[in-house]
Amino acid sequence: MIADRLGGLAFGGDYNPEQWDEPVWKEDDELMREARVNLATVGVFSWALLEPEEGRYDFAWLDAHLDRLHANGIAVDLATPTASPPPWFTLAHPDAMPVTRDGTRLVHGSRDTYCLSAPAYRTAARRIASALAERYGDHPAVAMWHVHNEYVTLCWCEHTAAAFRVWLRARHGSLDALNEAWGTAFWSQRYGSWEQVLPPRATQWHRNPGLTLDFSRFFSDEVVAAYSEQRDAIRAHSDRPVTTNMMQPGYQNVDLWALSREVDLVAIDHYPDRPGLDAAADVAFAADRARSFGGGRPWLLMEQGTSTVYEQGRTLAKEPGEILRHSLGHIARGSDGALFFQWRQSKAGAEQWHSAMVPHAGPDSRVFTEVKATGEAVSRLGDLAGSTVTADVAVLHDSDAWWALNSDGLPSSELGYHSALRNAHRALWDNGVVTDFAHPEADLSRYRLVVAPALYLLSDAGAENLRRYVVDGGTLLVQYFSGVVDSRGHARLGGYPAAPLREVLGIRVEEYRPLRHEERIVLSDSSHGTVWSESVRAQGAEVIAAYTHGALAGSPALTRNHCGTGDAWYLSTQLDDADYTALMSRLLDAAGVGPVRPPGIEVVVRQGEDGRCWQFVLNHLAEPVPLPEAHDVLTGGPVRELPPGGCAVLTGGPL
Ligand code: GLA
Repeated sequence: MIADRLGGLAFGGDYNPEQWDEPVWKEDDELMREARVNLATVGVFSWALLEPEEGRYDFAWLDAHLDRLHANGIAVDLATPTASPPPWFTLAHPDAMPVTRDGTRLVHGSRDTYCLSAPAYRTAARRIASALAERYGDHPAVAMWHVHNEYVTLCWCEHTAAAFRVWLRARHGSLDALNEAWGTAFWSQRYGSWEQVLPPRATQWHRNPGLTLDFSRFFSDEVVAAYSEQRDAIRAHSDRPVTTNMMQPGYQNVDLWALSREVDLVAIDHYPDRPGLDAAADVAFAADRARSFGGGRPWLLMEQGTSTVYEQGRTLAKEPGEILRHSLGHIARGSDGALFFQWRQSKAGAEQWHSAMVPHAGPDSRVFTEVKATGEAVSRLGDLAGSTVTADVAVLHDSDAWWALNSDGLPSSELGYHSALRNAHRALWDNGVVTDFAHPEADLSRYRLVVAPALYLLSDAGAENLRRYVVDGGTLLVQYFSGVVDSRGHARLGGYPAAPLREVLGIRVEEYRPLRHEERIVLSDSSHGTVWSESVRAQGAEVIAAYTHGALAGSPALTRNHCGTGDAWYLSTQLDDADYTALMSRLLDAAGVGPVRPPGIEVVVRQGEDGRCWQFVLNHLAEPVPLPEAHDVLTGGPVRELPPGGCAVLTGGPL
């Protein structure tokens, strides 16, 4: 466990000392001590310095920084620099530069510019990872390894095409099977040889959905393989944990269930994209995902911003108190620390305007003052390292469903997987419950309520798993346009959703009727729907709310079916936020999940193996919140009230 090596929770961030000089390093040493930094991520973008020419290494500068950090009591999360190959690499291996969908070959001058399938890139990445591990594998400063940085770069070049064909042969076995899976009988797409198969490059109109789905799966496997190669190269020389930082929740290039199986601990980067309460909800969303991908084990917030919320082309400042509150929001939900990008704000270079722990203004600043307060708070929470969080509710999360829902030619362009997941999580968060994410084929028996939003693609095994979950006593909510296609992306025939699920829900969906842009319909229980509607026939299910207008007037919109010892609900439209939150409240009640808290006050419990509990209370509201008297670990004293925006970590007695 990383906390064992650090003697507490991790606090710190990306440290890029190569941007600075001796006097600044001296100040860094002092300020890091002041801020109680105990972990620095070093070397993420250092390839050009570490290997100035192919095969010639210069480690002297890194030796000096690792020794300095170690002498200052700061452990290192040592990165492999493979997210940003140096210019010499491009010139020596132009074929390893990525090619966009429309055939443009990119060049260096930014970062993340490589083709993951190019042999020269993979060889160079393994080589630098191995050289670093050989030199620093048992360096006393090194507490963990950080492979690469946010695997993100897609490529459509000839190397990719060749690797894709190898992958397709392994998946489908024969060209006949591939032709059948992709439905190439339509539009004269039949492939007569493997060489005819191309990645989904720019083409005239809708791309074949089987091709795009398989390409997403292929790329994900390629990432997992590239990561695993570097991890194995490191493990040959080091016994320290190895991980990689996973992208923001909105990026879905990699199946994070699969990648999480390969890392020693899940690590994520998180930058909210909306301010205020939405940002707090987004912190919870990202944190609950990270915990779930790691199977409930503690994980690590590898990056966040000190004063940055991305919103539609702007970077908004975090409000006073949010650095602490967001950090505690992640820790409450299982992170064994809070790290930032980056320690010191760059004075030049591509991210000179990105926030940092030490801003351009220097340590005499609001940001650094809040960083110090956060470091102090995190340092008081060392005892809870390794403790875990339990949830009674799960939202299903499946990469195949996500990728399939990105297909061209769906009945509405307003169907988004990420937004569907986020809305479901938000409606539960607004009800004050902690939510896990779970794969549709995972054991769901520990959850009282399972929500399946936008589960467009559902495997036969997944459908059977959901049937069993309900029959055995679970409460399930399936939402519109779910269970529609099988693992190959083929439509389910005879009525949606997938057969065993249809019976459990006691309904049959006969026709999809997307709503017009911004059309809002009213249901018989006065709730409102947007985006989507369906012609649903109740076949045993009770109708809870019906459509009231148009061709669907009188037909079911929301149903409930008792099946075995559980209940299966079906929602065939997208409810307005308030109505959706109210529905979740009703389902939580029916499933016996509580306690439910008012929105804006977040309460999460971490529990140790020895039964010790820490209750995080985060007040996101502008009013004070009274508390029953308890001991607050953050202040080391009793607390009776949380001020607006205040936080406490309570021990002793439930709230
Ligand atoms: C990502 C990267 C960092 C930095 C931040 C900026 O998370 O990993 O290198 O670019 O974004 O938000």
